[in-house]
Amino acid sequence: MLNHTEIKNILKNKDIGKDVYVCGWVKTFRSNRFININDGSCIEDLQCVIKLDSFDKKTLSQITTGASLNLKGEIVESQGKGQNVEIHVKNIEILGTSHPDNYPIQPKKHSFEFLRENAHLRARTKTISSVLRIRSEISYSIHKFFNKNNFYYVHTPIITGSDAEGAGEMFKVTTHNLKEIPKDENNGIDFSKDFFGKETNLTVSGQLEAEALALGMGKVYTFGPTFRAENSNTSRHLAEFWMIEPEMAFYELSDNIDLAESFIKYIIKDVYEKCKKEINFLSERLLKEEQSLPKVERNELSLIERINFVIENKFIRISYTDAFDILKNCKPNKKGRFKYPVNDWGIDFQSEHERFLVEKHFKCPVVVYDYPAKIKAFYMRLNDDKKTVRAMDILFPGIGEIVGGSQREERLDILKDRIKSMDIDEKELWWYLDLRKFGSVKHSGFGLGLERLILFITGMGNIRDVIPFPRTPKNADF
Ligand code: 4AD
Ligand code: MG
Repeated sequence: MLNHTEIKNILKNKDIGKDVYVCGWVKTFRSNRFININDGSCIEDLQCVIKLDSFDKKTLSQITTGASLNLKGEIVESQGKGQNVEIHVKNIEILGTSHPDNYPIQPKKHSFEFLRENAHLRARTKTISSVLRIRSEISYSIHKFFNKNNFYYVHTPIITGSDAEGAGEMFKVTTHNLKEIPKDENNGIDFSKDFFGKETNLTVSGQLEAEALALGMGKVYTFGPTFRAENSNTSRHLAEFWMIEPEMAFYELSDNIDLAESFIKYIIKDVYEKCKKEINFLSERLLKEEQSLPKVERNELSLIERINFVIENKFIRISYTDAFDILKNCKPNKKGRFKYPVNDWGIDFQSEHERFLVEKHFKCPVVVYDYPAKIKAFYMRLNDDKKTVRAMDILFPGIGEIVGGSQREERLDILKDRIKSMDIDEKELWWYLDLRKFGSVKHSGFGLGLERLILFITGMGNIRDVIPFPRTPKNADF
């Protein structure tokens, strides 16, 4: 390793008078004197000052935005505003030159679209690197929460033979030669000749396997990538995203909601404390950006106010039926302002409905529970009314659904009926049914979309900007 001290530690320790080596990438070089350098260890750049005439022309000409340097100098108290210490440079080694005219990340504001096209370099920007530092801290915080609460971290398969959500939106996994696919006697694809000897896909959820593990280990959680081939080109959907799925034996729906609420609050509070500088920076960024918007499109609360609001207030809990009544009778519905009118009980809420409930009606995160059985997955526990299931979705301002979960159907006969009514092949789920034959117990769990939580904490507007290399329809670059 190159001998160097991370900028984060230099700024923290303030060892005035000490000589240090610093490595990083040049942000700006002004007046042939002030080099601002960043090494990714923190949000701040370090100002490094060089004495006039102390370096040769060639070295000076190579100190351009984007170039990488290893420099040595003395830590001194800073004269300028905005930083405590600066470096008085004694030696400069150019590690890698850049091309000032071609380097995409210039010291100016770039659009997020442009940065997405340059996703391999966008971690050099303050905004994206802040978001990714927060992403890292959130991930750590999630493990801390579950570890403290006696959960086991389990790893469920990524390649799977079962369709957890019962929807046809999966990526196929095969080693068949696509130009000469083996056919069976009915001219269908012969999966018996494929690598696994059966049809397999990338998982849409680790839930079913997590259930098996919870029904032996008590409380478990998965935290891994999930894949959905739905053609949703929105600012809230990715084809590859990360999901956290806790699963708890002996929990009923209300326990499940309690856990989800305290989990979300813990993460947001913890990350806000750990990443104050990044979140303050993103909050300021957002305020500036919103100034150019018409007043109605601006957020009533700043990012920091929204974060504090969620930490301090109880989430509203409301049944689907009550939420449906509110929506049916609300002004926008009566005046025909919804694209999808709310008339008949049983409809799936669209994002315009969810946003109305959260942003206009309650102005608070909302948990909707007891959804119509017809619009939810086969594994959710049927209520005594036979019409609704013990499902719950948590809806967040500006985002919509952030969590989806349920109490699971633990009664074998009812589960079998649900599987049949949804046209799912019971044979594929033999092991899942076994769990209801041998010591079945009430249990519950939920899935939190990591990127949607990051959207909330960072105030970013597009999910493509909170994952390093997004996968979306027609886009798998990098
Ligand atoms: O509501 P979903 O589909 O629930 C499940 O997959 C359950 N098996 C979870 C469980 O009970 N263990 O997805 C859960 C969450 C959503 O609330 C959303 O936050 C996120 O995953 N999500 C997506 N995030 C980004 N892009 C997508 N395409 C997403 N689809 C779901
Ligand atoms: Mg859902």
